[in-house]
Amino acid sequence: MSAEDTVSDAAGAISADRFVEISYDDIIPNNVALGADKQLQRALETWRPNYLGWWNSMGPLGYQTSDVYLRTAVGVDPAGWAKFAYVKMPSYRWGILLAPKVEGRTIPFGRHKGEPAWQEVPGEHRALLRRLIVVQGDTEPASVEQQRFLGATAPSLYDMRNLFQVNVEEGRHLWAMVYLLVKYFGKDGREEAQALLERQSGQMDNPRILGAFNERTPDWLSFFMFTFFTDRDGKMQLAALAESGFDPLSRTCRFMLTEEAHHMFVGETGVQRTIEATCAAMAKAGIRDPGDVEAVRKLDVVDLPLLQRKANFHASVTRDLFGSEISSNAAEAFGSGIKGRFNEANLKGDDHVLTDATYAVTRVVDGKLVVEQAPALRALNARLLDDFIVDCQGGIDRWNKSIEKAGIDFKLTQPHKGFNRRIGEFGGKRISPAGEVLTEDEWKAKSGDWLPNDADMQFIASLMKPCHETGKYASWIAPPRVGVNSQPGDFEYVKIA
Ligand SMILES: [Fe+2]
Ligand SMILES: [Fe+2]
Repeated sequence: MSAEDTVSDAAGAISADRFVEISYDDIIPNNVALGADKQLQRALETWRPNYLGWWNSMGPLGYQTSDVYLRTAVGVDPAGWAKFAYVKMPSYRWGILLAPKVEGRTIPFGRHKGEPAWQEVPGEHRALLRRLIVVQGDTEPASVEQQRFLGATAPSLYDMRNLFQVNVEEGRHLWAMVYLLVKYFGKDGREEAQALLERQSGQMDNPRILGAFNERTPDWLSFFMFTFFTDRDGKMQLAALAESGFDPLSRTCRFMLTEEAHHMFVGETGVQRTIEATCAAMAKAGIRDPGDVEAVRKLDVVDLPLLQRKANFHASVTRDLFGSEISSNAAEAFGSGIKGRFNEANLKGDDHVLTDATYAVTRVVDGKLVVEQAPALRALNARLLDDFIVDCQGGIDRWNKSIEKAGIDFKLTQPHKGFNRRIGEFGGKRISPAGEVLTEDEWKAKSGDWLPNDADMQFIASLMKPCHETGKYASWIAPPRVGVNSQPGDFEYVKIA
């Protein structure tokens, strides 16, 4: 089974089970009968030029007139939803696609458990619901902005195409959230939709809402780590929202998850191919010791200890996105039936209301890590983070298999939950990747071994030379095992114009 199978299977379990036709005759492709709701159609058609303005000024720099071999959704069922064709990115058919309605669906958790799922916004939870949609929506254009400059240094046309595929789909995710805001939240929804185009990643005055989405994605290794770790946060959040009692949100997120699976595939295989290139170059040069960094770097490949530091950085920054482990907001979102747990409807062994349940949370008490039982309802962020860490491990295990197969004695690991955190139980604490609580001086002495340092970033930057020739790959990354849509190795994924 390929990595793509594994990754898409994870999302496939919650995918649609029947085909819902998408109308491509409308300006905005959709499967929500947009033409029958003139007010909504007008609102979205008003927003659309602003969106395109944002795409042109903040989306991928360059290549906007190039033909890119992209997939577009033609149906929302898992089997037949992708159509591949050359498309100029600004002409991508961004639209509104919801997974099919499940007749008779009930709210699977919280105080309203068992009641029919809401088709309209429940008035008492309106503010909370809008906030969650805005926060999710804000991450989508943010990542496009973060990845804006990467086209110029793409290590191959295959990778460039994958980058642009991820970018247009994040744009579509923005459309998905904007649809909910505009259809269900009236005037303030329209204002929020506009504000989503105005905040900017990394901008001082009007930054994106969440920290990790204001970090730079300066190079391709960062991009792969981002799509492995941070898009997986997206998966976890979308999966929790897909359980929502607000049915339009649930259906929207269910379809988004099928796209998210591809983003994580790009990240996982990107790192995998980096590892393969490193191991092959080491073998060819007769280098056995992964710690012989100087010799490895001379081969123009990424040394494995550097990959570990990159993983440490992206894992820890992404973990902060889950928020405080103990959170009354998360309790409220769950209690009110708005945001569930990962895989909520299929969880066995509790009542999905969690009145008396507890959950084990790691905390720092008197300078020591202790595991305490906390009320499960208040520990939902801790639980989703734990589920995320488990989900990451599958990919990391596959990376390690490649290293092992090459006969190199090295293993990539996930750092301790408390490592390099700014938010929650471990925020501001100094904890090593192995989970020891450190003094500030100990941290200062060691953190350069655990996080990418300036020399690391300079080295990575030195590798970022474009390789835009058909079928060729930069020194530091191996070709993929299979082409996109089974295309041959010399396929021209982007016709650069
Ligand atoms: Fe997304
Ligand atoms: Fe994504």
